Amino acid sequence: MISSISPYNRWFFIAWCFAFCITSCTQTKTVTFTEDIAPIIHDKCTKCHRPGQPAPFSLISYKDVAKRSKTIREVVNKRIMPPWPADPAYSNFLDEHHLSEEQLAIINLWVEGGLLIGDTAKLPVPPVFAAGSMIGKPDLVLKIKPFLVKGDHADRFMVMKIPFELPSDTFIRAIEFVPGSKWVHHVNGRIIFYDDDKKKDIFAGEYALDTKEETRESVFKKMNLLNDDGSYPGNDHYIHSATNYLPGVITTLYPEGIGGFFVKRKGIIYLNDIHYGPAMEDVLDTSYVNIFFGKERPKRPVQEIQLGTLGISDIVPELVIPADTIMTFVTRAKILGDISLLSVNPHMHLLGKSFTAYALKPGGDTIPLIRIKAWDFRWQYFYTYRKMLHIPAGSTIEVVATMDNTSNNPNNPHDPPQQVHGTNGSMKTTDEMLQLILTFLPFQPGDEEISLASHLQR
Ligand code: HEC
Repeated sequence: MISSISPYNRWFFIAWCFAFCITSCTQTKTVTFTEDIAPIIHDKCTKCHRPGQPAPFSLISYKDVAKRSKTIREVVNKRIMPPWPADPAYSNFLDEHHLSEEQLAIINLWVEGGLLIGDTAKLPVPPVFAAGSMIGKPDLVLKIKPFLVKGDHADRFMVMKIPFELPSDTFIRAIEFVPGSKWVHHVNGRIIFYDDDKKKDIFAGEYALDTKEETRESVFKKMNLLNDDGSYPGNDHYIHSATNYLPGVITTLYPEGIGGFFVKRKGIIYLNDIHYGPAMEDVLDTSYVNIFFGKERPKRPVQEIQLGTLGISDIVPELVIPADTIMTFVTRAKILGDISLLSVNPHMHLLGKSFTAYALKPGGDTIPLIRIKAWDFRWQYFYTYRKMLHIPAGSTIEVVATMDNTSNNPNNPHDPPQQVHGTNGSMKTTDEMLQLILTFLPFQPGDEEISLASHLQR
C-alpha cells in the first residue's frame, strides 16, 4: 500500500503515523499504581480502609489494592464506595468522599491494563493518621463506661451518657468522639447541662441502654437525665450537632469566633444514637470524647432548627407508610430572619429511598441544599458546606422525601412488608423518621466568603 504512495506522500504518511502514535500513546498512557492509583486510594479510601477502622480490610499498598481490584472496580463504578450519598451535581460540601469521573476512568483503565505497579521507587508515602485525636491535643478526655459489644452478628443501637462536673461554668469549642472499637459505626451526641439547684446527682442512673424497646421518655427516666423535679432540662440546653462521628469524618472545628458552646459546670454528654455494626466476636468498647475548651464566650454560637419528626414543621401527609407502597412526604418551614447555613443533616431510617432539601427564596429562586438519590441508612453525615450559604429572610426550606415500604427495598425490616409509622417517641429503627437538622448563624455580610475548611488550624 505504502509503495503506491508518492515519495513525498510517503514521508508525509510516516510523519502522520508518528504524530498519531504520540497523541494516541499519550491518550492511552499506561496507568500505574505508583503514579495514578496510589494517590487516589490514599486520598479517598485509606482514611477508613486501614487497621482499627470499621472497613473490613486495608487499602494502602499495591498488594492490598491489586488483590481486590475486581470488587473495587465494581463498588466504585456503582458508587457504593467511597460512601457519599449526597449528589455532588446538586450541592458541595467539605471533605466529600467522592470520586470524579476522571478518577473513575483511571481506576477502570488500571484494572483493564493488567494492574501495572510502575516504578516502585516513586511510590508515594501513605498518609499518616494521628492517634487519639484528628484535630489536636484535647483539654479534657471523658470516657464512656466500657461497654461489651456481643459478637452476635447483630446491629445494635444504643444510647449512652457520660456525666461531667467541671470546676466552673465554661466554654467548649469542639467535642470529638473517638471510637474505642472497630464496630462503632456512627454516633450522634449532644450536651445537656443543669442548673446547680435543679440537679443533685448527675452520676446516678443507667449509663447505657439498648434502644430497641425504649422511648424518649423511658430513656430520660432510666438514665436520670431529667431535672430532680421531673422536668426536662430546658430545650435551649441541647445542641444536637455537638458531636457526631462516622468513619472517615473529621470533627468540624469552625474558624475562630464561630461555633462553640457555653456550658454550665454540671452536665452530661448524651450520646443519643450509637450504631454498632454486626460484631464477629465479643469486644469491649472503650470509646471516649475529647473536649476542646474555648478561651471566651463564643461570639457566634451555632443555632439549630429541626424540620419534621420532633421538629418545628409537620410532615405531610402524616408519616404512615402502608405495606407495599412507595410514598412521598413533604415538610417545610419558613425562615424568618436572614441566616448563614453551616450544615445539614438529613435523617430517615430503613425505608428511606430518596431525600431532597432546598430553600425557596421569596422571589421564587431555589437554593439547592442537598439531594440524595439513593438513600443509604448506613451513611448519615452532618454535611458541612465549604462556605456558608446565605438564606434570605422569608425563604421556605422544603424537604421532599420518598419511602419505600415494598419488598423491593432490601433494607425493609419486615418480611412481608407491614405498615410502618413515624416514631411517636419510640427509638426503634423499625419505626420511621423524617428529619432535617439545619445548623446556622444569624447572617452577617461577608459570611459567604468565609471558608469553613479550617478544622486543622488549632
Ligand atoms: C468513610 C469510610 C470509607 C471510605 C472513605 C471508603 N470505604 Fe470502602 N468500606 C467502608 C466500610 C465501613 C465497608 C464495609 C461495608 C459497609 O459498611 O458498607 C467498606 C467496604 C468496601 C468494600 C467491600 C465491598 C463488598 O461488597 O465486599 C470495597 C471493595 C471497598 N470498601 C472499597 C473502597 C474503595 C476503593 C474506596 C476509595 C475509593 C473506599 N472503599 C472508601 C468504609 C469506607
